[in-house]
Amino acid sequence: MKVRKAVIPAAGLGTRMLPATKTVPKEMLPLVDKPVLQYIIEEAVESGIEDILIVTNRAKSAMDDYFDYFPELEHRLCRSGREEQAHQLRAVADMANFFYVRQRETRGLGHAIARARHFVGDEPFAVLLGDDIMMSKTPVLKQLIDAAEKYNCSCVGGQAVSDEALPAYCTTDLTHVEGRVYDVHHIVEKPKPEEVMSNFAILGRYVLTPDIFDILDATPPGRNGEIQLTDGLAELCHRERMVYVDFEGRRFDTGNLTGFLEATMEFALRHHETGAWLREYIKEKAKDL
Ligand code: UTP
Repeated sequence: MKVRKAVIPAAGLGTRMLPATKTVPKEMLPLVDKPVLQYIIEEAVESGIEDILIVTNRAKSAMDDYFDYFPELEHRLCRSGREEQAHQLRAVADMANFFYVRQRETRGLGHAIARARHFVGDEPFAVLLGDDIMMSKTPVLKQLIDAAEKYNCSCVGGQAVSDEALPAYCTTDLTHVEGRVYDVHHIVEKPKPEEVMSNFAILGRYVLTPDIFDILDATPPGRNGEIQLTDGLAELCHRERMVYVDFEGRRFDTGNLTGFLEATMEFALRHHETGAWLREYIKEKAKDL
């Protein structure tokens, strides 16, 4: 099994980040000096992905514009001696082969991923959620691809979350295989207390076989009338082997305000232009609190 393609569903309405996301896609909000989506695409490329499909909608054309050339701007930068910056802009557009498909109705994550059937064809493929950002030594998607390729099956990534947080995620029934890898036997979305099987939730990264498409097409709408990816995954893990990687790294949900601010602070503290300044600023501020 070789994983070369990735799908990034980014067609959600971003209601938790309103009013900012009324006209700016949440995936395009800047995290220090780059849009959220760029971090996700960098993770995919560093994991060996060559072709990337972004699932978008009619309000999100800023995403395809961003991964395109902008000759007038590059020319202006070069004329004013900023060739390096012009080169950086072009390098972003050249990172991967980009493809786009529109989700014409916002009918849930499972429905968004089902739009990728023609792009994916008959290969296994990766999914990276458009608002989940990872900070890790080995790219999180690479950790999943290594496991998927080793065990020749689908792979979902996640970590243990607290008892309080679990009802917002999903619960998994797992048995240990080796190291950080587990076999998945069952998955339940947004579990009630009596449904909890473990605290290992699935967090924004997947490698799936194309068998998921027939399953998603047959999955009835669930919560909020949306087609839930988790319902499809629960069926996939019953039909064929699926492994879980308890990934190494830190995950930020930039789709909510505190997650977005947390990510902004962490990335700003590590950024060469802002790190030292922010550290001093926080120390000064802490004196007044
Ligand atoms: P979320 O539930 O986090 O995104 O979906 P949302 O619906 O935009 O957020 P809120 O709850 O209204 O604030 C996870 C990912 O799936 C995509 C989102 O863009 C996000 O990257 N998604 C969700 C779609 O592409 N289509 C959908 O119909 C729903």
